[in-house]
Amino acid sequence: MSFSLIIGEDMKIAIDGPAGSGKSTIAKLLSKKLNFEYIDTGALYRAITYIIKTENLDAEDEENISNIIKNTNFRFHNNKIYVNEICIESEIRKNSISKNVSDVAALPFIRNLVNSVIRKIVDISENIILDGRDIGTVVLPDAELKIFLDATPGIRAKRRYLELLDKNESISLKEIKEEIIQRDYIDSNRDVAPLRKAVDAIVILTDDLNIQEVVDKIYNLLNNDL
Ligand code: CDP
Repeated sequence: MSFSLIIGEDMKIAIDGPAGSGKSTIAKLLSKKLNFEYIDTGALYRAITYIIKTENLDAEDEENISNIIKNTNFRFHNNKIYVNEICIESEIRKNSISKNVSDVAALPFIRNLVNSVIRKIVDISENIILDGRDIGTVVLPDAELKIFLDATPGIRAKRRYLELLDKNESISLKEIKEEIIQRDYIDSNRDVAPLRKAVDAIVILTDDLNIQEVVDKIYNLLNNDL
């Protein structure tokens, strides 16, 4: 199979993988390099978790949450998420949200709500990159290129630790590693759209690769025969 990089060809790229595998960092850089749209689908699950938390909602209250989310505007601008025109990017990255997001994302009605937000953005975009857990398997099963990014839990925890440290969040490496393993477990074992490598996805192990090396690897895949 080979691809040509002609913008306007309606190309879709799916990037999946567990927490801290580098999906969003890589997807952002790649979207810039290719001039593609980018949706960080995890940010939508995080935003809904944030809304549930700040509005003191019961996560199982399907009717109430559905009404609120259907009347909420989600938008990405400069790779940051805006909810009703307010940027909540830094709030959704806090560990208090990371801790709860997988339980929220396991609820089927929440997945339907997120998927309808994603669908609206995909429908008006020509070339797009999506990253998440179920992109290659459920959201974009027809994506032209599917990547599954992975790394060992210790490496992923270290990356997340440094990110949070940079944002002055004090949490131990041990705690982060435990949380990442717990989140992987919930994401991989839920009934609906679990974290899975699509059969036709290309696996990239990022333990020994830096960010630029991963971006280049995917870029080269697009340019060369697979
Ligand atoms: O950045 P990190 O890898 O930690 O996670 P994320 O991509 O921001 O996603 C946060 C959470 O949202 C994941 O742990 C999943 O529970 C959920 N998620 C999902 O279920 N399906 C997606 N397509 C994307 C995220």
